[in-house]
Amino acid sequence: MTDEEIDRLLEKLDLGQKVRLLTGSTTWRTYGEPAVGLRPLTFSDGPAGVRGEAWDERETSLVLPSPTALAAAWDERLVTELGALLAAEARGKGVDVLLAPTLNLHRSPLGGRHFECFSEDPLLTGRTGAALITGIQSGGVAATAKHFVGNDSETDRLTVDVRIDEQTLREVYLAPFEAAVEAGVWAVMSAYNQVNGCTMAASPLLEQPLKSEWGFDGPVVSDWGAVRTLLDTAGSAQDLAMPGPRGPWADGLLAAVEQGLVERELLDDKVRRLLRLADRVGGLGRPELVWRPAVSPVAQRALLRRATAAGAVLLRNEGGLLPLDPAGLRSIAVIGAPARNVRIQGGGSAEVFPASVVSPLEGIQRAVGGGTQVTYAPGQAPSALPRPLDRSWARDPRSGEPGVLVRLLDAAGTELHAEHRLSGRIVEPSVRVDGAETVEIRALVRPDTGGRWTWAVGGWGPMSLSVDGREVLAGTFPLDSDDPTRVHVAPPYRPAEAALKADTEVEVVARRGLAPGTGVATVLAAAPPAGDGAAALAAAVAAARSSDVAVVVVGTTEESESEGHDREGLSLPDGQDELVRAVVRANPRTVVIVNSGGPVALPWHTLVPSLLLAWFPGQEAGHGLADVLFGRTEPGGRLPTTWGAAQEDVPVLVTCPDAGVLRYGEGPDIGHRAWLRSGAAPAYWFGHGLGYTQWEYEELSPPGAVRAGEAFDVQVRLRNTGSRRGREVVQVYLARPAAGSERPVRKLIGYAAVEADPGQSAVATVRVAGRAAAHWSTVRSRWETDPGEVRLLAGRSAGDLPLEAGLALGEPLSEQGSTEKGERSPQLLH
Ligand code: BGC
Repeated sequence: MTDEEIDRLLEKLDLGQKVRLLTGSTTWRTYGEPAVGLRPLTFSDGPAGVRGEAWDERETSLVLPSPTALAAAWDERLVTELGALLAAEARGKGVDVLLAPTLNLHRSPLGGRHFECFSEDPLLTGRTGAALITGIQSGGVAATAKHFVGNDSETDRLTVDVRIDEQTLREVYLAPFEAAVEAGVWAVMSAYNQVNGCTMAASPLLEQPLKSEWGFDGPVVSDWGAVRTLLDTAGSAQDLAMPGPRGPWADGLLAAVEQGLVERELLDDKVRRLLRLADRVGGLGRPELVWRPAVSPVAQRALLRRATAAGAVLLRNEGGLLPLDPAGLRSIAVIGAPARNVRIQGGGSAEVFPASVVSPLEGIQRAVGGGTQVTYAPGQAPSALPRPLDRSWARDPRSGEPGVLVRLLDAAGTELHAEHRLSGRIVEPSVRVDGAETVEIRALVRPDTGGRWTWAVGGWGPMSLSVDGREVLAGTFPLDSDDPTRVHVAPPYRPAEAALKADTEVEVVARRGLAPGTGVATVLAAAPPAGDGAAALAAAVAAARSSDVAVVVVGTTEESESEGHDREGLSLPDGQDELVRAVVRANPRTVVIVNSGGPVALPWHTLVPSLLLAWFPGQEAGHGLADVLFGRTEPGGRLPTTWGAAQEDVPVLVTCPDAGVLRYGEGPDIGHRAWLRSGAAPAYWFGHGLGYTQWEYEELSPPGAVRAGEAFDVQVRLRNTGSRRGREVVQVYLARPAAGSERPVRKLIGYAAVEADPGQSAVATVRVAGRAAAHWSTVRSRWETDPGEVRLLAGRSAGDLPLEAGLALGEPLSEQGSTEKGERSPQLLH
């Protein structure tokens, strides 16, 4: 639809109709408006899968590897394919707008939502995000670049005032959003936090640079609940307040416009942008799109399996232990709790429910076939932290089916509604029933171990828990947070102990009063009695010793890494460091797989021959990892973020605000740039990752004459000197000989992958954007590139750059880019 056509629709709407459109009608929908043929638009999280409108474990979704893993692939074609898969899922679930990608940066490894962001590097983040946006929008579904801007950690995320100097903001934190706009993103989500004293839902940054300078023409959607005030947000370039139907705009915007407190033209612009979005997703003047899946379920799972392997980063492979040859293996010990219960995704708003999960244990068993003996040992006592009941150990007392019974009761305890569910974590019963005062979760549990079990009810407000007819907990737990994730999705658990006999079934009942303002979630969870950790460790050691190879899977937990809070530390929880050390002592042929969303401390990394990062690998985890372990495919990943060996070494760590303020005092130097500035060496540099062949870097050919501010190509010739075909990600960095503290020591300016057979050479042509050598001038508010000599470095990571060449940047052709309203600097055009 043209702008004129949209304006004609706008003219048909009165003030009340316009205002109504600007707040959600429900948690996930906007209002429709028959007067202009607008249907309601449906929004859904999130980056690793499409949940749809319901938070219900029976409505399953494909689960992709987490965004960190996607960035680790350094493969835009693959990411675009995955974006198209998300779009198909979205269409199948009636979703118009997907709340992804997350373009905040890995500023500190303690960031709790690290798994949901791509990288520490603005270029890799921008390119990966753009590729995902292209894929999602190719299916007619809007992508949403979020959270604009400065939401790089979780502590006090609703209120924290992030102080970022202008140059850093432009060169680092805004850069991926600028790339998203260049990729044509249809929606942007403003963040909860403040930047430089202004909450992002009312920030001047929404207008300049986002809309005026970059030309973003879609709506700015608020983060959920982030529009908390009226005049400042409505008077800014914030366009849509989600969720609804209540909120400051729903309550007060009409009067504010009538009183002249918010300009009518500003209101019109918000509505125009919403209509434009609706038009793009087929929600304006067209019947609802009929969805036909383009890809078969088998092909979808094959793509996810390929993505898992493509994102897996092999950090070490001493003596070429990997790939393993299944034909030569009589026995494998598979060790570690995550080997069986792999974490496929991060927790929080991005969470979706898989129809099936392939664990690393299952993937390995299936890959080796019957000839190799696979022994599993958890190596740790079962966690003492309660987990929601699930189908594997609870059944519905009414139907006897695996799962739980959920009932809604009125004030007298009469049943108004009952449903069978598969999990003890009920974020929302599937219906709303008038008169319901209590939600109840009821299950039969037959413990395999006797002793003191920990039971827990999760939620807010009045709650009780009874085990085998005996009340073990009752009380009222007032809300202590306004963070939507903690309130609605991951409320705290209230534990109580109860002794049980082995193999004797008991009935467990959790109840929560549906008091107003206490969120929606209710959880019934349990943990077995503390087991014998020493015996579990000894069993793992014995299994490792008697096997040809040991594969140990270690990882973070829901408690240690999730949305809504930052991590307390980088160490692996629950004695897993000790487990790795003990296993590698017992069997030097040990492969360690790390199952985490972000960096963990690796105090033992030089002791283990092979170390593979799986990230949160998505539902096909086990198959994708087995493909790598047994060499059916190369590990394709390269680190999107630098990994230190120990927390003390990390140059930018603090995520805790001081008196409400979090200063990005390090300026533009985060990640590898900060490590380079500090002079310390990390355990593994940004960009590092091994394949199954070797490469020799032979020649770097810089371009001929280049003027400051012009894009150019760099050619890098390299040779596959190993014995199998492989893929190499060639990276090009730029350094300025006399760089001051305001310039990075060196920075990534481009990358390209090549493939070659053994003995073959390949030439990578790396496209470098005109902006690559520029800096943001705060004096003149524009990008400037100083002419003169720069150094180009090429290689396989920020710390391994065997080729180097000089490049003289000539005088720029014309006046460098201005940022006046509406004008685009030539350097913006990559
Ligand atoms: C998160 C967003 C998410 C939204 C809706 C917020 O708490 O920060 O990323 O899209 O919830 O679930």
